[in-house]
Amino acid sequence: MNRYKINFLLIVLSILTVVSCSGPSKSGEETKSMEVNIYTQRHYDADKKAFEMFTEKTGIKINVVKAGADELINKLELEGDASPADLFFTVDAGKLYRAKEKGLLQKLDGALSADVPENLRDEDGFWQGVTYRARVIAYSKDVVTPDQLSTYEDLADPRWNGKIAIRSSSSAYNQSLLASIINATDEETAKSWAAGIVANMAREPQGGDRDQIKAMASGVGEVSIVNTYYVGLLLNSSNPEEVKAGESVGIFFPNQEGRGTHVNVSGIGITKNAPNKENAIKLIEFLLSEEVQSFFANNSYEYPANSKVAPAETVAAWGDFKKDNLLFSKVAEHNNTAVKIFDEVGWK
Ligand SMILES: [Fe+2]
Repeated sequence: MNRYKINFLLIVLSILTVVSCSGPSKSGEETKSMEVNIYTQRHYDADKKAFEMFTEKTGIKINVVKAGADELINKLELEGDASPADLFFTVDAGKLYRAKEKGLLQKLDGALSADVPENLRDEDGFWQGVTYRARVIAYSKDVVTPDQLSTYEDLADPRWNGKIAIRSSSSAYNQSLLASIINATDEETAKSWAAGIVANMAREPQGGDRDQIKAMASGVGEVSIVNTYYVGLLLNSSNPEEVKAGESVGIFFPNQEGRGTHVNVSGIGITKNAPNKENAIKLIEFLLSEEVQSFFANNSYEYPANSKVAPAETVAAWGDFKKDNLLFSKVAEHNNTAVKIFDEVGWK
């Protein structure tokens, strides 16, 4: 073997050493994975499109398991360490806290976006908001004027008897709203509020938020409590009947003189044993990028969590408002009491 051959072999050997040193470390293996598994409660067309955009951009396939938040939490618990899930994505702060409390999530660390304000994240960094939504009063413009409206509390007044269309108490949106009222007042006051709403209902709770607006458009009920984006979806629907229903209501932000309007967050966390953690982080970064935040704003009509991104024109037209800045952990803390109150007052 001549000197050149020996040198060549040494070079090859040193390259091999470098390769094996940087070789199959844990993060190296994760980088090689070309998929990510998400358990999501979200039921919006915008998500499907955003996931497709992610796969197109990165080549990483997203496997989606869609179910109610409680079902997904149960599934994560049952699967334990063997769960294939990388991400848990849901639409209610209370559910995010439940997942965190059960030890199903890990700290986001590197995946926390600096563009998401602190009040839209878990205080310990286990999840962060992707979007947020306000739970507002929608009123029939034919029969109600905004000067008749003020607070959530006021809707329990007997003058609204037979005029409230609202969805069931099984909705996390209503549970978190009631939790925010418990937090701002006390259990007794919150209970008499809930009883007052039940007494004022135009019909037994049924359907989702959009159905309340459609009911009002057809003359059933005059006021409702709904999430903002449902009105955005109606106003921008391809179905003219839905547009008409959306146009029949005005949006009123309650409690502006006091604690502010109740907002809830749609947030995401990485599961405790995420097998594709690198990809999970990439997907979170993608969802919070200005491009995708703007896409969400203009397709799901939620408020973007990224403070650099503006809401859709439809949504911005409702104006700025004061938010109830209670800690989302309080929403979770009062959830059981809220559910108990709903049962006691017969809110179906
Ligand atoms: Fe929803």
